[in-house]
Amino acid sequence: MRLRLVFLLAPFILALGALTPSSAAPQGRERLNIDRDWAFALGHAADPAGDFGYGTSAFFFAKAGYGDGPASARFDDRAWRRVDLPHDWAVEMPLDGRASTNHGSRAVGPGLPQNSVGWYRKTIEIPAGDRGRRVAVEFDGVYRDSVVWFNGHYIGREPSGYASFRYDLTDYVNYGAPNVLVVRADASVEEGWFYEGAGIYRHVWLTKTDPLHVAHWGTYVTTEASGNNATVTARTTVDNEDNGARAFVVDEEIVDAGGRRVAAARGPRRVLGPGRGAEFASRLSITDARLWSPETPVMYRLVTTLREGGRVVDRYETPFGVRTVRWNPDTGFWLNGKNVKLKGTNNHQDHAGVGVALPDALQEYRVRRLKAMGSNAYRTAHNPPTPELLDAADRLGLLVIDEHRMMGTTPEIRGQLTRLIKRDRNHPSVILWSVGNEEWAIEGNEMGARLTRLMQDHVRSLDPSRRASVAISSNAGRGSSTEADVIGFNYRSQHDVDAYHRAYPKTPAVMTEEGSTFATRGVYVTEPAAVRVAAYDAPQRPTGSSSIEQGWRAAAGRPWMAGMFVWTGFDYRGETTPFGWPAVSSQFGMLDTTGLFKDSAYYLKSWWSGEPVAHVLPHWTWPDRAGQTIPVWVYSNAEEVELRLNGRSLGRKPMPRNSHLEWQVPYEPGRLAAVGYDRGREVASDEVVTAGEPQAVRLHADRTRIEAGGGDVAVVTVSVTDAEGNLAPRADNLVSFEVTGPARIIGVGNGDPGSHENDRYVDAYQISPVTDWSIADLDAAGVRKGPGDLDASALRWRDPFRWYPPGSEPPPPLGFLARGTFKSYERAAPETVVTLFTMPLDDGHSVYVNDVDVSENVRAAGRGAAVVLPGSLIRPGANEVKILVRGNGEAVLRRMNILGAQNIGSLQFRRPAGGWRRRVFNGYAQVLVQTTGAPGQVTLTAAGGGLRPARLDLQAEPRQAGGY
Ligand code: GAL
Repeated sequence: MRLRLVFLLAPFILALGALTPSSAAPQGRERLNIDRDWAFALGHAADPAGDFGYGTSAFFFAKAGYGDGPASARFDDRAWRRVDLPHDWAVEMPLDGRASTNHGSRAVGPGLPQNSVGWYRKTIEIPAGDRGRRVAVEFDGVYRDSVVWFNGHYIGREPSGYASFRYDLTDYVNYGAPNVLVVRADASVEEGWFYEGAGIYRHVWLTKTDPLHVAHWGTYVTTEASGNNATVTARTTVDNEDNGARAFVVDEEIVDAGGRRVAAARGPRRVLGPGRGAEFASRLSITDARLWSPETPVMYRLVTTLREGGRVVDRYETPFGVRTVRWNPDTGFWLNGKNVKLKGTNNHQDHAGVGVALPDALQEYRVRRLKAMGSNAYRTAHNPPTPELLDAADRLGLLVIDEHRMMGTTPEIRGQLTRLIKRDRNHPSVILWSVGNEEWAIEGNEMGARLTRLMQDHVRSLDPSRRASVAISSNAGRGSSTEADVIGFNYRSQHDVDAYHRAYPKTPAVMTEEGSTFATRGVYVTEPAAVRVAAYDAPQRPTGSSSIEQGWRAAAGRPWMAGMFVWTGFDYRGETTPFGWPAVSSQFGMLDTTGLFKDSAYYLKSWWSGEPVAHVLPHWTWPDRAGQTIPVWVYSNAEEVELRLNGRSLGRKPMPRNSHLEWQVPYEPGRLAAVGYDRGREVASDEVVTAGEPQAVRLHADRTRIEAGGGDVAVVTVSVTDAEGNLAPRADNLVSFEVTGPARIIGVGNGDPGSHENDRYVDAYQISPVTDWSIADLDAAGVRKGPGDLDASALRWRDPFRWYPPGSEPPPPLGFLARGTFKSYERAAPETVVTLFTMPLDDGHSVYVNDVDVSENVRAAGRGAAVVLPGSLIRPGANEVKILVRGNGEAVLRRMNILGAQNIGSLQFRRPAGGWRRRVFNGYAQVLVQTTGAPGQVTLTAAGGGLRPARLDLQAEPRQAGGY
């Protein structure tokens, strides 16, 4: 029966497949990315004047549509900087010892109100043809406490810096006209104890649908596999936001990664009354289903079609995978009927160069790096991740514990948990929800138990297919842990995990955190003054937790323990233990902030990956340690390992399982090699070579062919070598970078936890509004009566003044004069470009700044005029602008009103950033190169530091059609 249906539907589906978004008529569903070209400026968290007067005018929050300052649709933002999302303004701020070390000491956050509010504005055209459709904006996440305004109307507030949220804008749309979307983000308060960034650091989407449509995150796909066949249950919620009842059918089909339809189900006729929503379930089967796993991350798509009569009203795609997940208290975690040990890492969101504003390609890069270490699992510490991280985990095969941020059951917190589950429950990568982490105030008491139970129940009501967990710092056997559906232990040293297991034999368990060891990449002698820690694995956590090796041995040796999540995969900004300032990054990572392996990553790789591994440490360039004994460690999974120095054997030793080998070696320059043998046959080797002086820079990209559209990124490793090409393991040369072709550099890093260099080189903007406008009518040499259509709050009517342009006594021809003042925060540096943006001006108008005529420089800019000012004109402190209009005074008032009288003048001080540069740290740095749209050749050059320069060619290629 079902097969027949497939045939019947085939031509129809083929026709649908031919519809691309660009050829589709404006009906059905559109989901448009609106990341590009936002106006951005810093406001002020404590001073309304520095916050562009936001919230100061009468009726601001009293009446609909009275948004003021930047929230007003008429606000003039031409002086603001243009940015593309994702954007993190924190990573662009200077480092400041007064800022929070937990957050990486960028000058944002508590005590720094002048840097802690960011405004984003975007104008969106919504065509007249969209009348009748639902229009919504979806934010994947804004850090934090965002307030959204649309066309001057207050839309909503989202306190969380991690929750995804959506607003229906339909009722506020100006059809066939520009619409102004405004976001104010306030990062004054911290949510975490780690770097969190600031701003719209995730994607933003505009969706348009028919009033009858699949609900937001309105599908829920679960799978059962038996033998080669899979049963898929598709639950689809449909909302009717129309004025009348609508009749329709819900068709579901499943498409495999190659685009072939493998199952379909046509639903019966349904009717939904106005304002009603309902969930409809279908069961579909896939014969010869390919199961999803980390090794075979096979994805399918559920395509849901709402049809009314013959018309497709909505088409909604849900990527999913077929797999079964079970937790067993005695044997741990099971995937597709196989017992799988979780080899996981914890990670925060930030990466070198870009802070938390990761282009999608960088999410993928990070997942690849973790997989290269042999890791199969990831915990999103301690907050909902980006959707794109989960997409990458689905696509590449990584199991995820998806963590909610703060425990609670209030509407706000419960709402965030609901959104997390609904958003993420179709990702096959997600194997467990976490409702909380180390909630110290409650984890050991009755309230902790209660909240754990209630939150887990709530999770189960939204996703009965998965279990929930809570991670505890201690208190095993009390509070939260007594109710845990799956218990997460943070640090074995802080609990008697075996006693808990005996007392709660029915509760599956996992080490949600272990490690918290410190290591600096490429460092083998601890130097506290330089905030560097030797990278030999040791239990270094102040609380005395395990080394990586001890942790893994403990997890591996307990079959009931589902696995271990190392704290952490990557180093992250902030939480700068053990040093505090001037360190700016943590040192817990198995990989540094750029994704380069530290030595412990090779320990894990040897016991996690199944690939032959040999890795020897430290490096072998110690000109100052001749004759001294150096501890040499080898990580390998070979049966035996031999260490050789300059060809001489220093002994062959059996490799204990889940362990490593050590030698004490008197230093002599040359070549130190570790060779691994299985049954006497060489299976892996590694060598470190004494390097000469740094001579050359090299560039290597993770991919040399990148996509031209969509903001793809090449991750380029910069290394410094000696004349022979050996890595110079202590090199710290300063290297400059330039890119040509359709691409830009978006960030640089080097993994040094103490580096105070820039991550981003972006022009610095300061915006100074012209305020205190007065208007004099020169004709009458007196004061006009206040024009009714000027905003009295911005244009204060003052005492009459008399002023004549220098050299033009007696009075000029009849005219009109506006006078205002602005502040310059600092004496403009010679390279600073100062631009006045103001109302439209023409030949009859003159502009004076501090009484100097600058009219020659007037040019048209957007809705008004702009004047580039010589920096020498600007005084620190108060400055004056005068605009003299010869002719009809009414005309200038009209011109002023073109911009809205709220801000008829703004000064932009733009200090160019200078070229991209970064020191290599212990021989390495990283440059992120992002395509800008057009296809073509991209060339990155690296030079400086007295080194032979390097050049790297990349190809930006048009997007490949099709594919999942
Ligand atoms: C844990 C905590 C992590 C991190 C880690 C550092 O207690 O859950 O977020 O702070 O300690 O050792």
